[in-house]
Amino acid sequence: MTLLAVRNLSVTYPTRTGLIEAVRGISFDLGRERLGIVGESGSGKSQTGRAVMGLTPKPGIVRADAMTFSGVDLLNAGPADWRTLRGSRMAMILQDPKFSLNPVMTIGRQITETLRQHEKVTKKEARQRALAMLEAVQIRDPERLFGLYPHEVSGGMGQRAMIAMMLVCGPELLIADEPTSALDVTVQLEVLGILDRLVRDTGMGLIFISHDLRLVSSFCDRVIVMYAGRIVEELATADLSHARHPYTRGLLDCTPKIGEDRHPLPVLERRKEWAA
Ligand SMILES: Nc1ncnc2c1ncn2[C@@H]1O[C@H](COP(=O)(O)OP(=O)(O)OP(=O)(O)O)[C@@H](O)[C@H]1O
Ligand SMILES: [Mg+2]
Repeated sequence: MTLLAVRNLSVTYPTRTGLIEAVRGISFDLGRERLGIVGESGSGKSQTGRAVMGLTPKPGIVRADAMTFSGVDLLNAGPADWRTLRGSRMAMILQDPKFSLNPVMTIGRQITETLRQHEKVTKKEARQRALAMLEAVQIRDPERLFGLYPHEVSGGMGQRAMIAMMLVCGPELLIADEPTSALDVTVQLEVLGILDRLVRDTGMGLIFISHDLRLVSSFCDRVIVMYAGRIVEELATADLSHARHPYTRGLLDCTPKIGEDRHPLPVLERRKEWAA
């Protein structure tokens, strides 16, 4: 079943020096699956996620032939529609968690308030669900974290607290924008494990944004490769070795393999015509 359908989406920014085309006419569908979006810095991954969430910053302009989420027309959603959608039915983990947690509110309160904004629950129920969610993201002492402010926890814990906040309402769609890039490898794997379990247990659809093709291919069912605001390749992770686009092939060739001694390291090729 299709959860999200995007047709010919473009995101542009008018600037003093001309129009920046961040996303240039992309189309894709998402079911209850894990879809990876990879591509180099500036290729339009975050802008795609933000557009889907109605979070394109000013003065960005979003255009599309269609963009629907479980039958809801996102292109014509008003502020009230977004308030009920965002945080409850669809959620996004932003690239930098520092901007997502409120620095002057305890972590526990942020999670319970998110929940109480969207569901009729008592304070006590909200607290219990928040604690259960913190436990689900492998916080060892949820009671303690509950009363802490964001600056009092480590980056990895803050990231997990944010994931807990995004997931407490049980969204049908989660967009995770480089959710683990700021974390060390062991914490990274833990967080991926948490997301993986949630997708399996709840049937949530996941868009996993990363510049790391190897990570994406180990974790997702399907991959979209973006280059200069366009989708240059879309394929099942299992078929990645049959990727045709030279950019994807280049990314694959640049992936280091343990036990292999390559000199010189290949240089990733970029050509103007791929963006055309
Ligand atoms: N507020 C803005 N105003 C103007 N241009 C912007 C704005 N935000 C993003 N862009 C441009 O949109 C393009 C795509 O940016 P985007 O953040 O989607 O890249 P990305 O693929 O997520 O990169 P990264 O891997 O570095 O996160 C870039 O060229 C960027 O400069
Ligand atoms: Mg980004």
